[in-house]
Amino acid sequence: MNYISIQNIDNLSQWVQDALKIKANPLKNKKLGKHKTLGMLFFNPSLRTRLSTQKAALNLGMNVMVMNFTNEGWTLEFEDGAIMSQGASEHIKEAAEVVSQYCDIIAIRAFAGLVEKEKDNAEIVLSGFLKHATVPIVNMEGCTGHPLQSLADAITMEEFKTPHRPKVVLTWAPHPKALPQAVANSFVEMMQLQDADFVITHPEGYELNPEITKDSKIEHDQDKAFENADFIYAKNWSNYIEYGQITNADTNWTITAEKMALTNNAKFMHCLPVRRNVIVADEVIDSENSIVIQQANNRTYAAQLVLEKILKKVYK
Ligand code: CP
Repeated sequence: MNYISIQNIDNLSQWVQDALKIKANPLKNKKLGKHKTLGMLFFNPSLRTRLSTQKAALNLGMNVMVMNFTNEGWTLEFEDGAIMSQGASEHIKEAAEVVSQYCDIIAIRAFAGLVEKEKDNAEIVLSGFLKHATVPIVNMEGCTGHPLQSLADAITMEEFKTPHRPKVVLTWAPHPKALPQAVANSFVEMMQLQDADFVITHPEGYELNPEITKDSKIEHDQDKAFENADFIYAKNWSNYIEYGQITNADTNWTITAEKMALTNNAKFMHCLPVRRNVIVADEVIDSENSIVIQQANNRTYAAQLVLEKILKKVYK
């Protein structure tokens, strides 16, 4: 069993309920992972994913090894048949098999390079480990998805659920650096499994991969999208069509109190880290309606649920 994408969730509402049970008693299965090791390989920085996944593993009694691959590991080659006379020192074939001997589960973070769309869509790091590792793989944010984040988002939305069918809006917001589409993609995929009025709003030209958005509603007028919304999920992503480019920096898309006033007293969500007063105004993120800290807390229980499922399915 691997956890690579939202598609690996067989029953989202059941997973959310299971995660809430873990949250109520996080040490219930503190011996489940005894003598098992989680290896966490980071090809990019992290705060929440690193600490929450580590905490989840510790709650299950696992040992944890963390490696920042970009500055501590050998540069990896991923191409079959490559003549390795240039930069890369080690092939994924050996690296993945070797790490599999030390770890019972391997978790990997490897962001999109945002230069070659096809290469990013191929998820060469995750795919390389999936192909050559001999233990389960967990995606801690790849090029195209961040399913641990979206599972935590689903848990958080359940905790703040409305008595009526909610309106949920994923809104693009400006950012000075080119960011991947991974968080937005997984949020869309997770929302497609929910009974909600789901709307994506972004400037024209900022469409996400249509193979992911499918028939999800898209509204280019942010104010209109915000009307009567119960949840506002803000996220920047760089242009998917003009791949990896920033083609819009319109500060009118920043989430302000004025924008939030258009909603049905909506909760404000963001995966963090967030650039204050660029993505979201202080007055919004510091308001009572902001649930970003609760979202970050739920990363632990999302990760713990995934690790528990793998331990029970693969190692029991
Ligand atoms: N939301 C999230 O994945 O945070 P980090 O990048 O800090 O892990």
